[in-house]
Amino acid sequence: MIVLGVESSCDETAVAIVKDGKEVLANAVYTQIDIHKEFGGVIPEVASRHHVQKITYVFEEALREANITPDKIDLVAVTTHPGLIGSLLVGINAAKAFAFAHHIKYVEVDHIVGHIYANYIESDFNFPMIALVVSGGHTELLLMKDHYQFELLGETLDDAVGEAYDKVGRVLDLEYPAGVKVDNLAATGEPSYHLPVVLLDKDSYNFSFSGLKSAVINTVNKCHMKGEEINKADLACSFQTSVVKVLVSKTIKAAKEYNVKQIVVAGGVAANKGLRKGLKDATDEIPGLILTFPKMKYCTDNAAMIAVAGYFKYILSNTTNY
Ligand code: KG4
Ligand code: ZN
Repeated sequence: MIVLGVESSCDETAVAIVKDGKEVLANAVYTQIDIHKEFGGVIPEVASRHHVQKITYVFEEALREANITPDKIDLVAVTTHPGLIGSLLVGINAAKAFAFAHHIKYVEVDHIVGHIYANYIESDFNFPMIALVVSGGHTELLLMKDHYQFELLGETLDDAVGEAYDKVGRVLDLEYPAGVKVDNLAATGEPSYHLPVVLLDKDSYNFSFSGLKSAVINTVNKCHMKGEEINKADLACSFQTSVVKVLVSKTIKAAKEYNVKQIVVAGGVAANKGLRKGLKDATDEIPGLILTFPKMKYCTDNAAMIAVAGYFKYILSNTTNY
């Protein structure tokens, strides 16, 4: 079954073509990062306009890359939520028009479910499993007992991890999106700053990152006031060490409590090198536990993950909607 996925929820215009939920035949992504970075974040109106300008080219590029004609496509899957509404609408309308014009079935996909299913390109799913979702807008721990069954164990009570990374990056004078730059800087530093590790109460699977983010901002402000030099690499490393401790400890606790066979990590922050190492070291100690991360290019927003999630939604429900 060949699925064409469409993603336009934020600042990436993306179309991908995936066979049987596994084999990526095309993964076209047009990123607007260069446009938004001068503003330090995504400007919704600007994002929608760029999606409008690029979407048909990205469709054409994906079809060319897969060397396929529309009549060979069995299903169109598109992100319908969550995201910036003006941006989402561009992808939804393009996907619907394409499906309708070519008489192709159509399904709607949740962006976060898409991030989770990016892992399926890497590895089959072994249930029960834990999904750790760490993106720019979400931080969630989910238990999955089967495909498309999501039980929310915990979520952030304030900032998402990616959001905290971007704000910390801003006070360290790093360009948007700063997550990867903080990650790279952290690799060159030592965790010499004392920052909180916010675990909330010991039974909770919820997260809180705004206190940690504020502690970093306060550290920078105090140094500025006293005219002291900040060791940016050490501060980035201290921040990342605290984030990784929290994410690893809650994920491993959930994996043990629910006796899961696999952990999958989803969303832009799944690209984080510190998190990858922290989770690998912790899971290596649990015999038989499988740890899966998507490939780097499928961690941040893309449409291959939407095609995979759409494939499962369709084969499980056998229904479509226009
Ligand atoms: O999943 P995503 O592409 O978009 C949302 O659905 O939100 O995630 C983007 C987020 C941004 O906050 C970005 O700074 C962060 O993922 N990010 C990282 C890394 N790469 C991307 N954060 C930490 N370390 C990274 N290597
Ligand atoms: Zn995303």
